[in-house]
Amino acid sequence: MNAFTSIQDLVMPLPLETRGFSVAPSAQSPRLLELTFARDTVEAFVKAVAQWPVQALEYKSFLRFRIAQILDELCEGTLRPVVLNTILDRGTGGMLIKPEGLDDAAQAEDMVKFSTAVAHLIGRSNYDAMSGQFYARFVVLNTDNSDSYLRQPHRVMELHNDGTFVNQITDYVLMMKIEEKNMEGGNSLLLHLDDWAECEEFFRHPLARREMRWTAPPSKKVSEDVFHAVFDTDAEGRPTMRYIDQFVQPKDFEEGIWLNALSESLEGSPAKLSVPVPQGCFLLINNLFWLHGRDRFTPHEGLRRELMRQRGYIAYQKPLYQRGQ
Ligand SMILES: [Fe+2]
Repeated sequence: MNAFTSIQDLVMPLPLETRGFSVAPSAQSPRLLELTFARDTVEAFVKAVAQWPVQALEYKSFLRFRIAQILDELCEGTLRPVVLNTILDRGTGGMLIKPEGLDDAAQAEDMVKFSTAVAHLIGRSNYDAMSGQFYARFVVLNTDNSDSYLRQPHRVMELHNDGTFVNQITDYVLMMKIEEKNMEGGNSLLLHLDDWAECEEFFRHPLARREMRWTAPPSKKVSEDVFHAVFDTDAEGRPTMRYIDQFVQPKDFEEGIWLNALSESLEGSPAKLSVPVPQGCFLLINNLFWLHGRDRFTPHEGLRRELMRQRGYIAYQKPLYQRGQ
C-alpha cells in the first residue's frame, strides 16, 4: 500500500440506485466492482438491438451510442452514472461485468454489442489497427508462433498498460471472454497502482519522467515509434502509467536496469489480483491506474480461447449524478 489511496478508505463513489443490474465488490478486491445484469435486462437488450448486426455498428459509429442509450434506458437511466463514476473513481476504476444468460459462444455477436454499449456510455472505442475495427476479436490456441505474448498460452503475459505504442489516448481497456475450451489457468491479472507498495519509489525516480522509445512488433500494424515517459500524473498529481515490458526500448544501461527493476517489482507484487473471467463476461478498467496481464495456461491439445477487446478514451472528467441527487 502506498500513500495515494488506501484500500481501507474505499467507499462506493456515490450511493447510486440501480435497476436491471446490481453492483457488489468482487471476491478479489473492493477496488474491482462486479456488475451483474439480470437476464431480463440482457434479453430485452438483445431483442431491442437485433435490427443492427455488428457490421452496422462498424459502419455507423453513432449506432454504438444509440445501443448504449438503449441499454441505459432498460436500466432506467441508472447504469450510465454507475459505470462512468466507477471508471473515473481512483479508489475503484475497475469492473467485472456479467450479463446473465449471455454465456454461449454462439452469442458472440450479442456479446460484442453488449460490451460496445457499456463502453459507449463512458467514451468511445479507438480504431484498433490489428483488426481495422473499433474492436478486435482474436483466438488463442495451444500452438502459436506470433511475435508477442498476446496469443502465447504457456507464458505469463506480464502486467502492462495498453496503448503504449500508439499516439492515441487510451483511458480504458475492455477485455471480454467470448469462448473458452479446455482451459486451466489463464486468469486475468490486475494490479491497481495504489496497491503496489513500491509505486511511489519508482514514481519519484528521475527516470520516471524521462521520455523513452516504444515500438510495436509487426502484428500490431503500427509502424511509427512513439516517445513518452513511463509515469505521468492525473489532475490531482497521483501517478498514472503507460508501460509495457515487451515494447519499451531502453536507450542505455541506466534505462535498461531501471526498467528491469520496475518489471520485477510489478511481477512480484503481492497485491496482484487473479481474476477468472467467465464466457460472456468482461473487464472494464481505467488503463491509467490499473495494470493488466494474463496468467499462464496448462497446455492442452484442444485448448481454445476467443477474446474481444476494445480500448478507448473516456469523454467525461466528472462524475454523473442521478436525478434527485
Ligand atoms: Fe493488454
